Amino acid sequence: MQPSAPRPRIVPSVLPADFSRLGDECRALEQAGVDRIQWDVMDGLFVPNITMGPDVIASVRPLVSVEFEAHLMVEEPDRLLSRWVDAGCGLVIVHAEACRHLHRTLAAVRGLGARAGVAVNPATPLCAVEHVLDLVDLLLVMTVNPGFGGQEYLASMEPKIAEARDLIARSGRQIELEVDGGIGRGTIAGAARAGATTFCAGSALFRERARLAEEVAELRRLAAEAAAEAARVMDGTCREEDAA
Ligand code: DX5
Repeated sequence: MQPSAPRPRIVPSVLPADFSRLGDECRALEQAGVDRIQWDVMDGLFVPNITMGPDVIASVRPLVSVEFEAHLMVEEPDRLLSRWVDAGCGLVIVHAEACRHLHRTLAAVRGLGARAGVAVNPATPLCAVEHVLDLVDLLLVMTVNPGFGGQEYLASMEPKIAEARDLIARSGRQIELEVDGGIGRGTIAGAARAGATTFCAGSALFRERARLAEEVAELRRLAAEAAAEAARVMDGTCREEDAA
């Protein structure tokens, strides 16, 4: 019997938010029942876009209680690591492709008292992270090429999501599997069936500002339904193999 799937986490990206009203937007997200808020940090070097720095995050921190995660799409994130933690991010996600010494960077995040996440772009194989899983609390599989919101979900990443799920299972560690990019009603089930348990969504949520709580609940329901279906299929397969 497959262990019951964890409750899906819905983590909005504030990339599509109205940056002149970030406090109000984050309050609305918190009231809508999201599990965390993701800050998409871009430096114009690692990705062709520039967004916000730690001071912006710090200015919003006192306004809401929900946890913040910093998704650092920046070259050599070591330079400012402590600033993201001081700004109030409990989870700091670095890109494997941007770290000259990934093992050292992840250890430094944990040394600052935050949880450590590592992200991989669509073209990056999971072998890039297999030797640092002892330092990882979250693995983020990008389902778009990073830099902008509103891009099309790459369904071709679903085998990689499944591979990540199996890599985590073999490690025996409690590592969250998050996906980010193009997640919405029409795509979240595929990512959940493949094994993702945390779903970062930007455009899909901000398009529904008038009914944010309903949309968060609907995404969570779709993910839970798909994960349960996948578990049933897996369970059935296991029973057939046992009977064979
Ligand atoms: C890509 C960003 C986006 C954002 C979510 O660099 O990381 O994936 O979080 O944007 P949507 O949900 O609009 O694809």
